[in-house]
This record gives sequence, C-alpha cells and structure tokens, in this order.
Amino acid sequence: MKTDSFRGRDFITLLDWTKEEVETILDVALDLKRRYAMGEYHDHLLRAKTLFMIFYNQSLRTRNSFEAGMTQMGGHAHFLDPGKIYTPAMPGKEVAYSTERVSDVARVLARMGDAISIRCYGDPVDWTYGGANDIIRNFAYWADIPVLNMECDKYHPFQALADVLTVKEKFGGFKGVKFVMSWAYSPSVHKPRAVPQSAIIAASMMGCDTVLACPPEMALDPEVITACEKYAQMNGSSFQVTDDFMGAAEGAHVLYPKAWAATPIFQPPVGENNPQKTQEIFDSYKNWKATPEYMAQGDPNAIYMHCLPADRSWEVEDAVIDGPQSAAYDEAENRLHVQKAVMSLVMR
Ligand code: CP
Repeated sequence: MKTDSFRGRDFITLLDWTKEEVETILDVALDLKRRYAMGEYHDHLLRAKTLFMIFYNQSLRTRNSFEAGMTQMGGHAHFLDPGKIYTPAMPGKEVAYSTERVSDVARVLARMGDAISIRCYGDPVDWTYGGANDIIRNFAYWADIPVLNMECDKYHPFQALADVLTVKEKFGGFKGVKFVMSWAYSPSVHKPRAVPQSAIIAASMMGCDTVLACPPEMALDPEVITACEKYAQMNGSSFQVTDDFMGAAEGAHVLYPKAWAATPIFQPPVGENNPQKTQEIFDSYKNWKATPEYMAQGDPNAIYMHCLPADRSWEVEDAVIDGPQSAAYDEAENRLHVQKAVMSLVMR
C-alpha cells in the first residue's frame, strides 16, 4: 500500500488505523527485525531526529525499546520525567510554577523535535477513566508532530502490535487462531485496562477467534467490546466474552492471562473511587492463575503470552512463564521491532 499516508500521523489507538495499515506495519516490523538479525543497521531512517518520551509511570520495556529503536535508526530518544520538568497538566489541574499547560508543552517540544511519546495512567489522573487518554489527545491536538501513546488508561497500542506480531510469527497468520485474553489474579489492583483492551482490539481486527475471559467486576469498556464485535463480523471470525477461566482456555492457541483493575477503582461515573472494595474483589479470584493445568486446556501448540512485568506466583507459575510454551520474551523483543516500524513510517 502507499505508505505516504502514514507520515505525520499520531499513534494513540489501533482503532484509528485500518487493518490494511496494521498489516503494513507488521510487514515493516518483520523486515526491520530480519535486517537487525543480519547485523544490517538502518541508522539512515531517522538520522538526527529526536523523540521526546514523557513517562508519568514506571517502565522497563517501553522506555528501553523506544530508546534502543531510535538509536538503531540514527536518532535520539530523550527521556523526560514529568516531576523534573513543569508537569504537563490540563486546564483546571494547574499548579503555579509546578505544572505547565499541555498545550504549551506540546507546542514547545514540537518546535525542537520530531515526535512526542507519552505514558500516563492511574494515579497521575486520580484513576479518572479516560483522563490520561485525554492528556495524550490534547498533546496531539496542539503538537504538529506525531504523538505516540506509550500506554494510557484505555490503550497500549504498541504492546498490541507486538502481541499480534508474535501470533503471526508463531502461527503464520490469524485465521482459525483462538486468542484468549484472560484476567488473572495479582495482589496489585493498580493496573490499567490498556493491555487487555488493545490486545482484543488487535486480535479481533486481524481475524483471530477472540475470547475475553474475566470476572464481571473486571468488565472492559463497552466501546472496545463493540469494536471487537464489529471486527469479528468484518473478518468472519468470532468474539466472545465469558467469566469461565478454565473453560475459555479449551482448545486455545494463545493464552494471555494477566491482571487489570476492577471497575470500583475508577472515579465516578465509571466506578466508585474505592480501592479497598477493589482489593476485596481481587482477593476473591485468587484461583485465576496460569498453571500447567491451565495451559493443558489449550491446543497442544498453545503459547503463553504476557506483556510483562508478570507477577510470578500470583498471575503465573514459574513452570509456565519459564516453560517451553512461553512466548513472553518474544513478545517483549517484538516491542522493539513494531515501534521501529511505526516510528520509521510516521516520523519520516
Ligand atoms: N509491557 C510494558 O509496557 O512494559 P513496561 O511497563 O516495562 O514498559
């Protein structure tokens, strides 16, 4: 396809991109991955370009894969700690000489570099569902350079790209692949919905038979569910939601169990701003764990996926994540390649 249309675009959610465009991104990612494996460097692609990275939350994979990717393509990734700049803030959330309005930060950085990437979810927006996505959208409104979502409270699109690239590598495609995104127990209730929401969007968009397994209190955004149903219809595939942890795994090719927040943690009107109730709900589902017995429900060639970091012994047993079915580290590696693909296409 003609890729000129990619130049200058924001990457905030896969919902803004077509299936054909996502297939092109995966093709470019595989090509860059192959070249990297052959020792072929591509530092001409983004030579002398700068990516500004603003992290309101912690990160291992995202920060290092963006930074390494920019280095490999001849550019530079600049890390910005919101607590060490004037914290970018939306109107109404400003504190004199401590914050700086997002519109000002976005326009200043856009005069100096070539893309702005942002991670923001949870505490920085007091668990107002969608508040972090609003910040990223506001950056995109004001900056006339691409804005990249490194995980907000709704979406983690680069993780989802890495997820479907891993599925493509393992199974050669998506048709007939049963992809199960499941909630799993963690003692930490402070995990956004971004990973599962983006994973089911990506899997259903690409044509997997997608299943979302979660307790009722961990239901995902109805808009995301509607989008997945639409993609399944377009692809002639299926999309199902269930609260049966073990049953969902039957015959699955991809098993992706991880924790995410229960609804009461969010501010009204989505939730009740009640972390204690959220903890009690979590603790009633301790048996939602990736064990060898769970993996045995799946297809003999089933893979275990996790975005990482994993909460070992709670979400998953060592025998699974360290075992022969684990694709978690392939998935982590693929973050590098999909991000290089998107950056090389939108930052040219
Ligand atoms: N999967 C993921 O986004 O990892 P980090 O939180 O380490 O960036």
